[in-house]
Amino acid sequence: MSKQKLKVGLIFGGRSGEHEVSLNSARSVFAAMDKDKYDVTLIGISKTGQWLISGDAVLALTGETNQQSAMLLPDPTEKSLLQVSSDTETRSVAPIAELDVVFPVMHGTFGEDGAIQGLFEMADLAYVGSGVVGSAVGMDKTIFKAVMVANNIPVLPYVSTTRSAINADIDAVMTQITTDLNYPVFIKPANLGSSVGISKATTATELRDGLLEAARWDRRIVVEQGIDAREVEVSVLGNDDPIASIAGEIAPKRDFYDYEAKYVTDDSELIIPANLDAVQMDAIRALAVEAYKAIDAAGLSRVDFLLDKQTGELWINEINTLPGFTDISMYPKLWAATGISYSDLIDKLIEFALARKQDRDATVRSFDVPEA
Ligand SMILES: Nc1ncnc2c1ncn2[C@@H]1O[C@H](COP(=O)(O)OP(=O)(O)O)[C@@H](O)[C@H]1O
Ligand SMILES: [Mg+2]
Repeated sequence: MSKQKLKVGLIFGGRSGEHEVSLNSARSVFAAMDKDKYDVTLIGISKTGQWLISGDAVLALTGETNQQSAMLLPDPTEKSLLQVSSDTETRSVAPIAELDVVFPVMHGTFGEDGAIQGLFEMADLAYVGSGVVGSAVGMDKTIFKAVMVANNIPVLPYVSTTRSAINADIDAVMTQITTDLNYPVFIKPANLGSSVGISKATTATELRDGLLEAARWDRRIVVEQGIDAREVEVSVLGNDDPIASIAGEIAPKRDFYDYEAKYVTDDSELIIPANLDAVQMDAIRALAVEAYKAIDAAGLSRVDFLLDKQTGELWINEINTLPGFTDISMYPKLWAATGISYSDLIDKLIEFALARKQDRDATVRSFDVPEA
């Protein structure tokens, strides 16, 4: 008799600047999933936030007319994805697919920042990746740095500021920055990815423009000491006892690894393994695991470092809790080079999701008030 297949909801797209990146990741993951093992429901979230399922949700997102809406309720007694009838007058819902576990292959806002993870928690669903806190801290560059500092993990000197401070007195903000840091500096919105809204400033004019630009994208902004750096990345996998892959290196062909370099020209080179001596390699892998644990990440994360070309100093740049996941992305390529294939990686992530759920279920949630 054949074993019951595990019912997996693959969720992708979403209201994020990294919507397209997510579609690419999801396409690769879906293609590599063992269909003898998994019964997969594709759930595409449109750029306006509509949840869609259909014969091919990937196609539905690219303009197919026959779109079928779906929803997931925060009610934990409702164990299914619900289908929403397209008739707006007699709008009704019906269970369409049970889900044992969901895999959000989403990057950036709402998918990687703890928002959708909150929904999964409410719905009492097992899901791949970090929980609400790990996702939120990994996403927020300001809070992330504070957590690293608290754990004695090296981050570059930085100044954090806000849109309101910039609007109130940009000159004061600039004075603070130029007092604490030296040009060049990197100006980053706290909660975006894919280099959106990020700029490098080498003059006061560029700093002013960069602050105003970043303030369009987020309420909070981080300004960071810029260095001439090599970019080294490590993949981490697991829950409470995570393991680190060997490190890889990105050699951007442009001034920095901006959106263009990441997704448009695509001519940046991945060097695996990174050209590091054994001591550096071990140090970087250990630091990746430390950072992962410090933010309470789970399932997977890619930990990105900056290695100062002049001094050899190592700094943590950021953690991506749902890193790019096409079969040629850095995260899976680092695992492939460390001995875990792309499809094995997917199996492991689903196992970790189920284990994390079991761990969560062991948590006492109600307290019987003793009678006086
Ligand atoms: N402090 C820095 N010094 C030098 N280069 C930096 C610095 N911060 C960012 N960069 C460059 O900008 C890119 C994007 O910054 P990052 O913080 O990784 O943002 P994102 O979350 O958008 O990927 C990095 O990959 C790197 O090329
Ligand atoms: Mg980055």
